[in-house]
Amino acid sequence: MAQNYPTPAWMDTAVFYEVYPQSFQDSNGDGIGDLPGLISRLDYIRSLGANALWINPCFDSPFKDAGYDVRDYRKVAPRYGTNDDLIALFDAAHARGMHVILDLVPGHTSEEHEWFTASKRPERGEFSDRYIWTSTWLDNADGLPFIAGEAEREATYILNFFKSQPALNYGFAHPKLPWQKPALGEEARATADAMVEIMRFWLSRGADGFRVDMADSLVKHDDEGKPATIQTWNYMFDQIRPEFPNAAWVSEWGRPAQSMAAGFDADFYLDWRWGGNPNGYNMLLRNTDDSAVRGVDWSYFNADSGADITGFLGEYLPSLAAVQAVGGSFSLITCNHDTLRLAPRLTERERALAFGFLLTMPGAPFIYYGDEIGMRYRRLPTKEGGYSRTGSRTPMQWDSSPQAGFTTSSEPYLPVDPDASAPTVVSEMARPDSLWNQLATLLKLRAETPAFTTTSAFDVVLAERGNTLFAFTRGEDEGRRLVVVNPGREPHDVGAHGTTQVEYAIGSVSLDGDRVVVGPQSFAVLA
Ligand code: GLC
Ligand code: CA
Repeated sequence: MAQNYPTPAWMDTAVFYEVYPQSFQDSNGDGIGDLPGLISRLDYIRSLGANALWINPCFDSPFKDAGYDVRDYRKVAPRYGTNDDLIALFDAAHARGMHVILDLVPGHTSEEHEWFTASKRPERGEFSDRYIWTSTWLDNADGLPFIAGEAEREATYILNFFKSQPALNYGFAHPKLPWQKPALGEEARATADAMVEIMRFWLSRGADGFRVDMADSLVKHDDEGKPATIQTWNYMFDQIRPEFPNAAWVSEWGRPAQSMAAGFDADFYLDWRWGGNPNGYNMLLRNTDDSAVRGVDWSYFNADSGADITGFLGEYLPSLAAVQAVGGSFSLITCNHDTLRLAPRLTERERALAFGFLLTMPGAPFIYYGDEIGMRYRRLPTKEGGYSRTGSRTPMQWDSSPQAGFTTSSEPYLPVDPDASAPTVVSEMARPDSLWNQLATLLKLRAETPAFTTTSAFDVVLAERGNTLFAFTRGEDEGRRLVVVNPGREPHDVGAHGTTQVEYAIGSVSLDGDRVVVGPQSFAVLA
């Protein structure tokens, strides 16, 4: 139970697969992935073992930030299909026992949204306060990013992210200038109510919830701990959650103590180094200044780093405690559309160990499309506001046909990896010891093992400074499992903790009496 509303039961066994819709599967030969294409690949996603989808924004947009600049929340972007196609996707997913969460962008719209067009007008109207406007055309914005000189209205307006993304008005925690409206005041509530209407629009058509973009960004100049933004979420959830008890809410927030208080079911780690310090997720996978090259890299899963797990746990355990206190969860991700892919910086073995860990730790894991086959980060010119993220957004590589089976067009949305050795779904499914097959086997084990649900018990067994072995248990009593992971180059051992058999292993893991001997670069689940 996150805050006041119980988390839907399906979240406890959810394994998410993130689909960047423009790059997954084109069905009509225009070079851009679309919803009918995605529907045609649902069986593939299910065969890997994922049972839930997060689709990046698929709504009408001028695509100045790949769709995170929404022009119409209620309309599927024509390049992806129609609203009926999205509803058909919900139905097709549900028929396969899968759930679909959409990406909700509540903090800002596109500058082309009709609310903003109306808000820009000089005369007062219904949408004048939907965005944050200062009092005069010469005002700066009290330290917030703003645009001047663009509107007939004699005022400047505040941005939430790019220039194309004006901030919606959820008010200020402590209004001190005449143009700053109070959080949860009349204007802020009108914005929140409009967002609730959008949630209701898609939930009533079959969506199973939302991943919420920049969920912590709503109230401006909020205090430490974001109390006013938390109250704003409580206000919205009080309206929508009772109506849709089976919907799940996953925040892009990265600070679970706050997101849980706001009422979300799950939060996930972001690739952000607040104050220059790596967070737990960075320490696992991206503890480097340039995550496109191997170079100097202190990531735990880089065999050359010699790093131990203690740094990660120091940062992770308080977050885990915060979610456990309310029955919520904190997810680990393989990567996402904002993050540089792990390949080629980490080797296939390193990624296999990392994914073994991700899939056995608490939380509902998120697999970014293509990570299961080892798609590689590529340095590419920016596309639709992607910048360095663009190289993680290339077309899914299905097979050895032209454009890797992504499209019949010769002009795909982004170039397909041209390397002759680029992995494809066909090549990786065929290789018995591939990352794909390891993932699929482990996901099957996960599905059959109650100890590996999202919220089942987690206890650290061995985590020591200077020791690359990490051992932990999941679950309780007879169902309990011991997980051991050793990304380092030396063997280590740990007590068997009552387990008597190796259920699944990568590398070399064996039982020697009541000790488990874990070889270099190895991972195992013991029962
Ligand atoms: C989130 C999205 C990112 C987007 C930004 C602005 O961080 O994940 O892709 O650019 O918000 O909406
Ligand atoms: Ca298409």
